[in-house]
Amino acid sequence: MKRDRYCGEIRETDIGSTTTLAGWVFRRRDHGGLIFIDLRDRSGLCQAVFSPDVSRDAHDAAHDLRAEYVIAVTGEIRKRPEGTENPNLPTGMAEMYVKDLTVLNEAAPLPYSMEEAADAGEALRLRHRYLDLRRPEMQQNIMIRHKITKQVRDYLDDKGFLEIETPMLTKSTPEGARDYLVPSRLNPGHFYALPQSPQLFKQILMVAGMEKYFQIVKCFRDEDLRADRQPEFTQIDLEMSFVDRKDVIGLTEGLLQELLKKVMDVDIETPFPRLSYQESMERFGNDKPDLRFGLELRDMADLAARGTFKVFLDALQSGGLVKAINGKGMAGISRKDVDLLTQEALSFGAKGLAWIKVKNGFESPIAKFFAEDVLKEMAGRLGAEDGDMMLFVADKPKVTYDVLSRLRLELGKRLNLIQPGYNFVWITDFPLLEWDDDEGRFQAMHHPFTAPLDEDVAKMLEGDITDHMLLGSLRAKAYDVVLNGFEIGGGSIRIHNQNVQRRMFELMNISEEDARAKFGFLLDALQYGAPPHGGLALGLDRLIMLLVGATSIRDVIAFPKTQKAFCMMSGAPSVVEPKQLKELHIKTDVVVEEKS
Ligand code: AMO
Ligand code: AMP
Repeated sequence: MKRDRYCGEIRETDIGSTTTLAGWVFRRRDHGGLIFIDLRDRSGLCQAVFSPDVSRDAHDAAHDLRAEYVIAVTGEIRKRPEGTENPNLPTGMAEMYVKDLTVLNEAAPLPYSMEEAADAGEALRLRHRYLDLRRPEMQQNIMIRHKITKQVRDYLDDKGFLEIETPMLTKSTPEGARDYLVPSRLNPGHFYALPQSPQLFKQILMVAGMEKYFQIVKCFRDEDLRADRQPEFTQIDLEMSFVDRKDVIGLTEGLLQELLKKVMDVDIETPFPRLSYQESMERFGNDKPDLRFGLELRDMADLAARGTFKVFLDALQSGGLVKAINGKGMAGISRKDVDLLTQEALSFGAKGLAWIKVKNGFESPIAKFFAEDVLKEMAGRLGAEDGDMMLFVADKPKVTYDVLSRLRLELGKRLNLIQPGYNFVWITDFPLLEWDDDEGRFQAMHHPFTAPLDEDVAKMLEGDITDHMLLGSLRAKAYDVVLNGFEIGGGSIRIHNQNVQRRMFELMNISEEDARAKFGFLLDALQYGAPPHGGLALGLDRLIMLLVGATSIRDVIAFPKTQKAFCMMSGAPSVVEPKQLKELHIKTDVVVEEKS
């Protein structure tokens, strides 16, 4: 059996030729005299017609074809009769009149119909992923993924990067999620960790003089899963020597620009805009702002302080914030909708949602706490006009930001404010350290090898270690790249000075011993002539999800896992033989039921 070409390639110019196609039976329509099959392969659909006038044998055999049978057909490509053309199909002007039909394989009755596959439950689709991946949209996603990785390799090769593999069986890495552990049979009681990223190895490759490294690499993180998070995911990971922030940022912008141009035929402008972490928090309430619409947060502390609303005054008194956004055109919403909106804010963690409608004056249960001129200033600051509704949250900074940023996104969607397109932004000047309430100590916000800003080094080295304000104000040479409200990548310039590195551990209250136990091999390497270096990693799955307009990264990964990190198709994770556990010297006190 030899096919000449792909189904989706047939065009008007092929009319009159005889050809062989192979693929899957997508649809079958039996019109008595004629039987029509939509034959599908990776490239698309082509209509095959079985007529007794052309071949009685083929026509008879076509009666028995069922959905997803695998067949090969040979016949003449003819112009479709006037009025039967399908302008929605690239092959829609032509059809094949089949002379020879070979059934290459049958298919069992399907668990769901391929035509309605998009509506079949995700669990069912994941269980039969081979069927799900036959859908044109899924094939498209996988093809775009291939094109992206190929372009990444070409681009970085052209810039002098070497693709170098790093171990999967390794030690704990510093990205801060929980590790996936792998027991070592040869070293009882010892465990490898699957890498959360190749962070330590890529830095060591810089010490080793490789200059420019990249890798398209699986990373493993045992964390709570969401639509944009998988337990194993892929990074475009890179690291460069003798560079500063602008070099890594410039290279990444060039890479993204080329990917969008070559794969999606979309032009994007570089350089991308930049926001400091602080500005991003103040204006959007988070560090991954969606800049496709406005609805920015405004600070209302000074105006709140001029009124007598106790909720606001209490929040300010205890070091909190009062911030607001403008619900554009929302003054008309009903009491019930106001309650629903408040419920939503509560579900985001707010204690309440204060509102003031601008409607021939100001309408609000809290308007009485403010003088007219203060209300006017509030409206002025938010750009609220007649017909708008100001929405306030007063709380600890973290809660205020979190609630308002989520409300902003929700309203952006609901009010149809989101402009189409790809909106990139860099977030820079992240805090170096972040207070961890549970542990009662500072943690590295990015990871402990991230360098402080040059202008903050002196403060870091000489500042009072008990001064939390000071430590919290130190900034890092870290940067994240954000696309349409998703963090698609992050990186930093690393510390290559040993005093700074030692101080970093000290500020995090990690003893030299602990640091050595965890990252000793990197610390060793850094002593022997580490060049200045830095890099970044892009989340490949997230990037593709956004490029193809999918709502979950599961749609751009061939074999993804569920929210519970379960593979519906293979059934992993599963219980193992007692013998296997014994060899590994592992005892478990959990009685497990096999999952179905
Ligand atoms: P970071 O932890 O920011 O940096 O990861 C880089 C990017 O990887 C993506 N990502 C994920 N995608 C899907 N599922 C997940 N669970 C997941 N976790 C992260 C995000 C993120 O921006 N070693 C550093 C990079 C560096 O400093 O060079 C690192 O791993 O898009
Ligand atoms: P109360 O004084 O509790 O009746 O609340 C009056 C209004 O303030 C209601 O609309 C509440 O939803 C709102 N509110 C309560 N707590 C907060 C808060 N922390 N931030 C913003 N609004 C609040």
